[in-house]
Amino acid sequence: MANIVSYKKKISMINQKEIIVFQTIENLAEHLYELLRKKAVNVPEGKYVSIALSGGFTPKRIFEYISSREKGLINWEKIKLFWSDERCVSPDDEESNFEMTRLNLLENLDIPNENIFRIKGENVPENEAIRYSQVLSENLTLKNGLPRFDIVLLGLGEDGHTASIFPGSTPLFHSTNFCEAVTHPISGQQRITITGSVINNADTVIFMVTGASKAKMLARIVYDTKKTLLPASLVIPTNGILLWLIDTEAASFLGNNSNKIS
Ligand code: 6PG
Repeated sequence: MANIVSYKKKISMINQKEIIVFQTIENLAEHLYELLRKKAVNVPEGKYVSIALSGGFTPKRIFEYISSREKGLINWEKIKLFWSDERCVSPDDEESNFEMTRLNLLENLDIPNENIFRIKGENVPENEAIRYSQVLSENLTLKNGLPRFDIVLLGLGEDGHTASIFPGSTPLFHSTNFCEAVTHPISGQQRITITGSVINNADTVIFMVTGASKAKMLARIVYDTKKTLLPASLVIPTNGILLWLIDTEAASFLGNNSNKIS
């Protein structure tokens, strides 16, 4: 694709994290699009690429970009979409991660409805956590007794949360359940989240982090060798790849040991 990424620099692996820094969120989105395109090529008959989407403002901008430039290069019929977490609201609520994805991505894609597995935020949270766990069991391959996503897309909160696993919820991160019903520690909003056990069972986990407001937390997570404090620092795929796609603003507290590749 022409002008895929006009500029990027790659910081060497830090604590088993591959970090790619992009000058703009558009460059980051192009890279993610290309990564998804490659994943969806030559998928055997009856097999699919399973992707867990995250919510928030960063993916909204990335989805907007991808859908505005969708070149028909991805066979979306070979992709099944799930969510890493959802707010316990109706699917048409402006707070809904599904609604954000529908408006900014799904509306512009030729993806069959049967390939879309939304978390039903309108259901009783505890019941939905059980139902969605069953959905994952039925639609994903199991490895180590856990559903294995091909790709899990995650964001990073300024407090170090990811998906809807918030600081202080380390036991939740390691829950043997596939999904849990949780409560946002500040807003009190109820949410459904996949657990850290499922996240770390994925083939590829991709953090998408942009903006200066994330820079300090990003550096803390990247250099956090304790890996006990914050949910995002506990994301260490058991048998998978951990990729951080970030922009220069979010990277501003990372070391300068980068080498420019183009
Ligand atoms: C959500 C997300 C959440 C998000 C982070 C970062 O439902 O809000 O799953 O974990 O990824 O809060 O969000 P931003 O990209 O908007 O900063």
